[in-house]
This record gives sequence, C-alpha cells and structure tokens, in this order.
Amino acid sequence: MTEDLNDQIQILSDLETISHQAASLFVKAARNAIDRKMRFVAAISGGSTPTRLYTLLGSAEYSSPVDWQRVHFFWVDERCVPKDHEESNFKTAFDTLLSKITIPGENIHRIRGEEDPDKAAIDYEENVRKFFGISGLPMFDLVILGMGEDGHIASLFPGSKSLEEKGRLVVPVYLEKPKINRITLTLPVLNHAAQIFFLVSGRSKATVLFEILGDGHKKDQYPAGLIRPAQGRLLWLIDQEASGKLKRQGKCC
Ligand code: 6PG
Repeated sequence: MTEDLNDQIQILSDLETISHQAASLFVKAARNAIDRKMRFVAAISGGSTPTRLYTLLGSAEYSSPVDWQRVHFFWVDERCVPKDHEESNFKTAFDTLLSKITIPGENIHRIRGEEDPDKAAIDYEENVRKFFGISGLPMFDLVILGMGEDGHIASLFPGSKSLEEKGRLVVPVYLEKPKINRITLTLPVLNHAAQIFFLVSGRSKATVLFEILGDGHKKDQYPAGLIRPAQGRLLWLIDQEASGKLKRQGKCC
C-alpha cells in the first residue's frame, strides 16, 4: 500500500482499510488546500460505501487535524426526499460526520431534495456558480464517488440522457426502478475536479469493475468508466472482493 496520490489504483483488503486510507488522504488534501488557498471544497456521495469514511472523518483521530471552518461540503447527488428521510444523502453525511464536527452552517451546501426536482436542480446549480464565482465549470478540490452494481455514479445511470449533458452543472433525473426523482452533478463537473476518490467495495461490484478497469473495452458503457478527470487526479480505492475479477488483482499499482 502506498499513500502517493499519483497512484491510480489501490487494491486494499476490505472496506475498513479503504475507509482509513480515504480518510487519511482526505485530511492530507484538506490541509494542503487550506495551506495553499485557505479553503477546501469537497463534493460527496451518498450510498453505503462512504459512510464508514464519514464516520472516521468525524472521529477525533481524523477530525482534529482539519480546520473545519475552512471546509465546504457539496453533494454529488441527492434523492428527492426530505432532509431527515433515511434515503437522504444529506442525512447520511449529517448523522455520520457533520453533526460530529464544528463546521459553520454556511459551509454545508446541500441539495434541497424536499423541493420540486427541476427547481432544486436549478437552485443548486446557481448556488454552485455563486460559490465558485464562475460561469464555466467549477473545480471541486475533491469529489468522492461510489459505484453502483450497474456502474452508475452519482445519479448518472447507464443509458441515461443526462450523461450527454454538456451545458448544465446539475440536472434532475427520474428513475423508474425504484420510482424516485434524484438530482445530480453532471459528468463535465465531475471530470473537472482536482481529485476524485472512487470507493468500491464488495463482490457485487466485481464484474462491472473488471469491465471498466480490466481490459477497458467496455469502459464507455458504464458511467463509472466515463470518469476521466481532464486535469485532476483519479484514485480508485478498491477492496479485495471488488477486485476479484481484475487481472491486476493483488497488485497495488
Ligand atoms: C447515491 C450515490 C450513488 C452511490 C452508488 C453506490 O446517492 O446512492 O451517490 O451513486 O454512490 O449507488 O452505492 P453503494 O455505496 O451503496 O454501493
């Protein structure tokens, strides 16, 4: 195992090890960014994989070296539910991390899942633009992504029209199964990040991961395979179970 961010793929034993590695790299990235430009801006995912990471970041070991006054949290996506709903990505991050640290309320830039999805997407895009003071693409210091068993990332699903979005930073997405509206950052925004951590754990992700990282031929069929930061760095943190089908299994590249 190495802590060098120039590595693209790290295969670690299990979710616990991935989470510690991600937490320690998060702290390092936050401290570097704060030293350089007085702030650190992260866009985080929902789902189950990063919850241990969030819990670790909220623990004394990882939270004390970070000046949380200078850290800003955005979300890569949100489910259209109230903020105290079990499915809310905001709630997950709040319960595991945000409620455990001292961070100004104005540093928490949540997506308003309780509102009409079209309006919530427009408002969130406006907030992102205002925060970064840009008309083009914002550059998050760090984007944390998980990957679904179908290769989706954020709320960008295989075959979805939203994958083609070039102009908007944020779009609403309607899912048939399960029937739910979601709101998501678009691919150009994700690919414009300074760093991306991809956290992938569990046997159920092994086939898709192999198709994306194994030989690359089917890469483009999956939203996760379309993550190619234009100028930033991409780090895959994968556990043994998820790496089961990878040719490079056992290698820490
Ligand atoms: C969400 C996510 C989503 C997630 C994947 C993986 O809101 O659900 O942002 O893209 O990262 O579905 O989820 P798991 O970590 O639960 O496998």
